[in-house]
Amino acid sequence: MTTNQKHEKYQQAEQEINAILEGESNMILKMSTINCILKTHLPYYFWVGFYCVNDNELIVGPYQGTLGCLHISYQRGVCGRAAREEQTQIVEDVHADPQHIACDERSQSEIVVPVFNPDGKLIAVFDVDSSEIGSFDEVDKLYLERILTNQFANSTLVERYL
Ligand code: SME
Repeated sequence: MTTNQKHEKYQQAEQEINAILEGESNMILKMSTINCILKTHLPYYFWVGFYCVNDNELIVGPYQGTLGCLHISYQRGVCGRAAREEQTQIVEDVHADPQHIACDERSQSEIVVPVFNPDGKLIAVFDVDSSEIGSFDEVDKLYLERILTNQFANSTLVERYL
């Protein structure tokens, strides 16, 4: 996929997400819809989903794909690193990253984006895996951070569960 095609796909996905989630506040509803729309538009998405902050660890939330790990501690995985550092992680080759947790052998690259509530508190991380090496770059980061910020950090409608 060329960079221009990626921009087009993300722009379509972002518009749909904004339109469909207009006026919505339920977390599960938002997370499930974001997974579905993004996976529909971006063909290299192999696994997409949220790991939610729960009692000082991450637990699996809404996702699409093969069975994900149920619990991820902050000390483990690319998800744990994203939660600790509160920064987006792009991993070009998961097999070259010693911290990566292999839930499915077919995952080759990934991006993990932290998700914040309106108080700036971490509530989840958003994890996307691809079955190809090097699928994610600054374009994915740009749109995913914007979509997640609009839907969770900047939304007055976010239900508080923390
Ligand atoms: N890749 C993650 C583990 C979760 S799954 O890929 C669904 C990680 O290393 O944090």
